[in-house]
Amino acid sequence: MNPTPHIKTEGTSKFQIGEIHNNTIHYDFEKIKTYLNIKGHMLFGKNFKIYKEDEILLFKLCCYFIQDHYSCAQMGIDTNKGILLSGPVGCGKTTLMQLLLHLAPHKTTYEIIPTRNIIFSFNAAGYQTLERYNQTKNYCFDDLGVEPTGSHYAKDCNVLGEILLSRYDLFCHPKKITEQRSLSGVEVNRSVVPGSIQTKHRSITHITTNLNTRELENRYGKRVRSRLRQMMNVIAFDSDSIDKRG
Ligand SMILES: Nc1ncnc2c1ncn2[C@@H]1O[C@H](COP(=O)(O)OP(=O)(O)OP(=O)(O)O)[C@@H](O)[C@H]1O
Ligand SMILES: [Mg+2]
Repeated sequence: MNPTPHIKTEGTSKFQIGEIHNNTIHYDFEKIKTYLNIKGHMLFGKNFKIYKEDEILLFKLCCYFIQDHYSCAQMGIDTNKGILLSGPVGCGKTTLMQLLLHLAPHKTTYEIIPTRNIIFSFNAAGYQTLERYNQTKNYCFDDLGVEPTGSHYAKDCNVLGEILLSRYDLFCHPKKITEQRSLSGVEVNRSVVPGSIQTKHRSITHITTNLNTRELENRYGKRVRSRLRQMMNVIAFDSDSIDKRG
């Protein structure tokens, strides 16, 4: 376990993004922005910058990923749910989800999977692909809504719709996991049994999408839409956000 998660090390440089008081990290958003700017340059190149007009949205996402329960509650964000990040083409959704993985991995982490890749995998391997996502692990399904329909041996399947329904069941019924070390991800309950630690692990799902809620409902149906609402906080870029692809 990293004893100083508030100090980020990049090469030979260190960035302090908060201070520890009484065993709790108090993060500083200005310092977080400085760190994210530098990390963004490293990951995405020299053109990366934090756009002024994105700062409110970035603040919300940072509060969520550092699991600042108090600030999130004030903004109507439930730290036990995932994030549905919506916005127009090229506004920077995928980039932000990749960047924010590095902010507080000791609090919550996730694997980013392009939805198109899930379909390609389904088309090749069939229903066992669905099983992969029915696991107690956090995922970010990237670019939901633009993937083609799945088809395995000429049998069509609403692959992401099915996966989201099973992610909902996992979300509502956290599975008990026996582990020796602490888990990544959001933990909701922990109890000790002889010889091991049993952790009830809530599986969080995040999504990035160009679709608005009505379009999501048209594509995946009412049942999925209603469950997404229960599983995720909707955080949206302005509909007139610029395409950062230029
Ligand atoms: N903050 C930023 N500064 C500079 N370039 C950025 C920034 N955010 C994103 N970009 C660039 O803009 C392009 C689009 O970003 P990204 O893929 O994250 O957008 P998106 O919202 O996920 O788009 P889509 O809806 O098509 O999936 C990428 O080339 C990315 O490198
Ligand atoms: Mg994207």
